[in-house]
Amino acid sequence: MFTISELERYTNLENGLYLSILGQVFDVTKGEKHYGSGGSYHAFTGRDASLAFITGEFDEQGLTDDISSLSMQQVKALNDWVQFYKTNYIYKGKLYGRYYNQNGSPTAEFYKIQEKLLLLKKEKALEEAQNRMFPPCNVEWNLDIGTVFWCTERSGGIDRDWVGVPRMFFETTQGSSRCTCVKLDSKEYEENKARFKEYDGCNKYATKCILRMNKT
Ligand code: HEM
Repeated sequence: MFTISELERYTNLENGLYLSILGQVFDVTKGEKHYGSGGSYHAFTGRDASLAFITGEFDEQGLTDDISSLSMQQVKALNDWVQFYKTNYIYKGKLYGRYYNQNGSPTAEFYKIQEKLLLLKKEKALEEAQNRMFPPCNVEWNLDIGTVFWCTERSGGIDRDWVGVPRMFFETTQGSSRCTCVKLDSKEYEENKARFKEYDGCNKYATKCILRMNKT
């Protein structure tokens, strides 16, 4: 365990260059060109400046471990930095403070972040499952023809043994729609029918639809 003032000593080559991110301390001495005196990222050493890994604000206000202003995606990006340090540098221990108690057990704030990460993971898994169920169409835009949507056994990067037909798909969370390939005889389509709309002027069973431009 490091205390904040103990960590403050590690800002030079004599003692070593250490930094903390989300309360985890790493020895980054081998990255001296980045973290040493005069290096672009020297400000990260001797402290936990988690927020600045995302904002890039290296002034005193920005160099803080308070990340409550970050979105979920940004918390994920910050966690990617933690993984980066785990992979590339030496883990030294934990910082007693916002994320770890004196005995090294995680604080409520630490768990809050873990929950956010878990939530994001679940959302991503759900989105992936939905993408498998309703894969995106191939889309091509052409000045003369208009927008062409079509389905193949690989469209949207989803390998499958059916092609499907293009439909406008209305996401529940956003008001926007995207083109997805639907398998008309599937249970999933049947259960979500209200969220799909056929493209104007496109045959119900066509695997390719062309949305013509309104030429003025
Ligand atoms: C949020 C803003 C940014 C943060 C927090 C950040 C952070 C970092 C850190 C921590 C490193 C050292 C990685 C290591 O230990 O190997 C690094 C390296 C580097 N960064 Fe940034 N950076 C930011 C923005 C930028 C921008 C805008 C540029 C370019 C215009 C840039 C260019 C570089 C370069 C060239 C390296 C060195 C790569 C290497 O030699 O391996 N960074 N950055």
